[in-house]
Amino acid sequence: MSFDGRELRNALGRFATGVCLITTVTEDGEPLALTANSFSSVSLDPPLVLWNLQNNSDVYAHFATPNYFAINVLSLEQQALSNQYAKKGEHTLAPDHFSPGKFGAPIIRDALVSFDCELEATHEGGDHLIIVGRVHEMLSRADGEPLVFYSGGYRELS
Ligand SMILES: Cc1cc2nc3c(=O)[nH]c(=O)nc-3n(C[C@H](O)[C@H](O)[C@H](O)COP(=O)(O)O)c2cc1C
Repeated sequence: MSFDGRELRNALGRFATGVCLITTVTEDGEPLALTANSFSSVSLDPPLVLWNLQNNSDVYAHFATPNYFAINVLSLEQQALSNQYAKKGEHTLAPDHFSPGKFGAPIIRDALVSFDCELEATHEGGDHLIIVGRVHEMLSRADGEPLVFYSGGYRELS
């Protein structure tokens, strides 16, 4: 390889993404959220989406094999939520940040769009686990600007 880990990370960061909160509920009923920008569409028919979970996450066990989870795309005004749920040990959702979805996964209030998913499959992907979800419900706001992540920092579209 002609590059080191830092160079690879920097290069990958040149791909602009949105920012999501992945949400689920533990077996004890605790609602959790984790900030992620690895969200991607997979398939329209059937409706499949994915995100990648780092293998060394403290909350790996809760996010790796949930029956249901939600992918909530954050709006420009929700940068504070992105920062909050990206902190180690800070994944318990505050009650005023969500309402329960149809299948139990927390739906983030005022997200641009939320995909309510059932776990379809997982695949090992190096130091991450690829988590594929089947979309059962979608809730979306009529308007709003996305929170954008690019080159290690938050951006806005214009
Ligand atoms: C913009 C952004 C995107 C991130 N994307 C991912 C991701 O796709 N997958 C992931 O596992 N962690 C991602 N993280 C890291 C987690 O949000 C969080 O920092 C990490 O899970 C904290 O460690 P813990 O899981 O051990 O608590 C991202 C963080 C930020 C700020």
